[in-house]
Amino acid sequence: MEWFNERSGFDRVWQSLFARHIPEAKGPVAWLYTLGSASLFVFMVQAVTGALLAMSYVPDPGHAYDSVRYINEHVLLGSFIHGLHKWGATLMVVLVVLHMLRVYFMGAYKYPRELTWIAGVGLFLLVMGFSFTGYLLPWDQKAYFATAVGANIAGQTPVVGPYVAQVLKGGPDLGAATLTRFFAFHVLFLPALTVLLIVLHLFLVIWHGISEPPVRQR
Ligand code: HEM
Repeated sequence: MEWFNERSGFDRVWQSLFARHIPEAKGPVAWLYTLGSASLFVFMVQAVTGALLAMSYVPDPGHAYDSVRYINEHVLLGSFIHGLHKWGATLMVVLVVLHMLRVYFMGAYKYPRELTWIAGVGLFLLVMGFSFTGYLLPWDQKAYFATAVGANIAGQTPVVGPYVAQVLKGGPDLGAATLTRFFAFHVLFLPALTVLLIVLHLFLVIWHGISEPPVRQR
């Protein structure tokens, strides 16, 4: 190991990533500090299960619904992987919101961690984007009409609304272009942006160190 460490600096990377000092939090409060890592873990589960689903999913209005049925009924462990991805999506939103609340109520967003918070807000918006674009993909009645409502709401935004709706739908109506577009957002643009922001977020977390739990002033 000494030979390897001297040439690669691996021990220093290990020390700063996994063996770094963190503040002592006692009792249930300590669990609140696991919410960011839990979000990260669920994101990784979503990436793996999503990649597996993409192997059999067809982003075309004529085949999308049947391809999801095919995954659930014929692919080895298909319904399990689909279920993990679906429940993982809900859990991700819950965990990220709880993580955000813990950071807010402990004042961990204050100096010098403002940029960590801003990167976090970006991540929150990306998670919302994953939920919105993913919801359409099964291409069933619920997905279609929920997305139609969502796109119409976006279209009502003053000034930019019509352009946003146009970019989302890929045309005047919700159809083949919308599904292809949502699929591209869901599996290409959003994951790439999320990975970039997570790297920045974690770099800042490690750079500043984790904040101390707040203490009541007497
Ligand atoms: C994909 C979503 C996210 C992931 C994977 C993630 C990951 C993490 C991790 C692993 C930590 C280390 C400490 C901890 O777990 O509490 C952390 C800290 C932090 N996160 Fe996040 N986070 C995400 C979203 C957010 C959001 C939405 C916000 C706020 C808008 C946020 C703001 C912060 C701040 C300010 C810290 C520093 C806390 C401290 O030093 O005590 N994060 N994040």
